[in-house]
Amino acid sequence: MRSSDQILDTLCGFLRIPSVSTDPAHAADVRRAAEFVRQHLIGSGLSGARLIEHTGNHPLVFGEWLGAEGKPTLLLYGHYDVQPPDPLNEWTTPPFEPAIRNQNIYARGACDDKGQTLILLEAVRRLMDRDGRLPINVKFLIEGEEEVGGEHISALVESKPDFLKADAAVICDTEMFAAGIPTLCVGLRGIVYGELTVTGADHDLHSGVYGGAAPNPIMAIAEILTALKDRDGHILIPRFYDHVVPPSQDELDAWHSLPFDEKEYLKTEVGSTTLTGEPGFSVIERTWARPTVEVHGIRGGFIGEGAKTVIPARAVAKLSMRLVANQDPAECTRLLQEAVAEVCPRGVTAEYKAIHSGAPSLVNTDNEFISKSAAAMAEVFGRKTVFIRSGGSIPITGLFDKHLGIPSVMMGFGLPDDNLHAPNEKFHLPNLYLGIDAMVKYFELLGR
Ligand code: BES
Ligand code: ZN
Repeated sequence: MRSSDQILDTLCGFLRIPSVSTDPAHAADVRRAAEFVRQHLIGSGLSGARLIEHTGNHPLVFGEWLGAEGKPTLLLYGHYDVQPPDPLNEWTTPPFEPAIRNQNIYARGACDDKGQTLILLEAVRRLMDRDGRLPINVKFLIEGEEEVGGEHISALVESKPDFLKADAAVICDTEMFAAGIPTLCVGLRGIVYGELTVTGADHDLHSGVYGGAAPNPIMAIAEILTALKDRDGHILIPRFYDHVVPPSQDELDAWHSLPFDEKEYLKTEVGSTTLTGEPGFSVIERTWARPTVEVHGIRGGFIGEGAKTVIPARAVAKLSMRLVANQDPAECTRLLQEAVAEVCPRGVTAEYKAIHSGAPSLVNTDNEFISKSAAAMAEVFGRKTVFIRSGGSIPITGLFDKHLGIPSVMMGFGLPDDNLHAPNEKFHLPNLYLGIDAMVKYFELLGR
C-alpha cells in the first residue's frame, strides 16, 4: 500500500502544474496536468487510459476497468483544471509551490479539485495494488474545463451516452458541511455566466468638456445593476422566480438542525461586518435554495494609478446568475436580456451575452449508491453522514442525470474555509487520507 508520504508527494507534483484553464498562456500546463492524471491511471493498471481531445480545447482524461462482472459501474468524475491564482500578492506562499502548515496543504487547486480528484485516483490505486482487481467497475472521466463551463464534457455526455454508460456517477468536488462531519451533497445551483457590454459615445471624451452632456457607460452599468437586484438581494428581473421550487419542509427541518452559527460564519468564512440577502430566508436557504445575481468585475475607463478625467466610450461587467431547480438557464438568460433592454438608460446600448451556463441539479437519494456512500463515510469519519446542498455549480451533474439517467453521488472532502477560488486555497490533509479510506470502503460495500 502506498504510504501517506508517497500520496502527498504525488499531490505536490500535481499541484505544481499551473493548469489554469481560462488562461491560453497555460494551455501547455493544462495538458501536462491531463497527462499527469493519465499516468496515474496507467500506474494503477488502467493501461488503456487516454486523453479525449477536441481541437483547441483542454483534453478529458478517460480510463476504465471493467473486470467485475455483474457488479455496478461507477463513473468517477473530478477536474484537473484550476482557477487563476490572482491576486498573487495575497498568498502567504506561492500558489504553485505547495506548502504545508498546520496539517493543511496550501496551493491553487489543493481542494478544488486536485486534492479531491486524487482521492478517486488513489482509492483505485490502493485496491488494484492490494487485490490486482476492483470490487466494482469504474470509468474515470476527469475534465480540464470545469472552471470554464465544461463545454466539451457536456458535448460528450450528450452525444455518447453508451460510451459512458454507468449505474451512478461519483463526484469528488464539493465540501463537507463542517470539519469532521461526513457529507453528501445532493443539490447544486446552476449558473449562467456572461458579459454585459455597455457602449456610449464612439470614443473616449474629456469629462470636463463633455461631462453633463455625454452618457457615461460605467454609470449606466451601475444603473442597470441596481435595477436588476434591490438592496435586499431580491432579483427584480420580471418572471425570474416563476419556476423556483422551494425545498420541502423535511429538507428545511434537516438543514436547520445542522450545526450552523451565523456569527461564526460571518467571522470565520465571510469576514464582512454583516451578512446581506433576502429577508425571510436563512443563510442556508439563501445560498443553497435561492437564486442570485452577482457582478464579478467591471472593466472600463481609467483604472491606473493617479487621476485621469475621462468619460469612457465603453464598459463591460462580468455578471452571473446562480439558479435553482427548476429554473432553466436559457430562459433565465432571455429574461435577463429583456430586463437589461428595459432598464438601459438613454444614450447607451447594453447587451448581455452568456459565456457559459449549467442547469441546477437535485439528486435522487433513494438508491443504494447514496445509502452505501453515506454508510462508508459514516464508518470512516465515525459520525452520521449529513445531506446538504451547495451554492456552487458543477455543470456536468445535471447532464449525468439527464443524458445517462444516473444519480450523482457527491462525496465532498473540502472544508468551508478552504478558500476555493481565493488566495491561500488549502486542503486539510487528514481529509485526503480519510477520503481515500472512505472511497475504498464505498467501492467494497458496492461490490459485496
Ligand atoms: N468545486 C466547485 C463547485 C463547488 C464548490 C461545489 C463548493 C460545492 C461546493 C467547482 O469547481 C466550481 O467552482 N464551479 C464553478 C462552475 C462554473 C465556473 C461553471 C462555480 O461554481 O463557480
Ligand atoms: Zn471544482
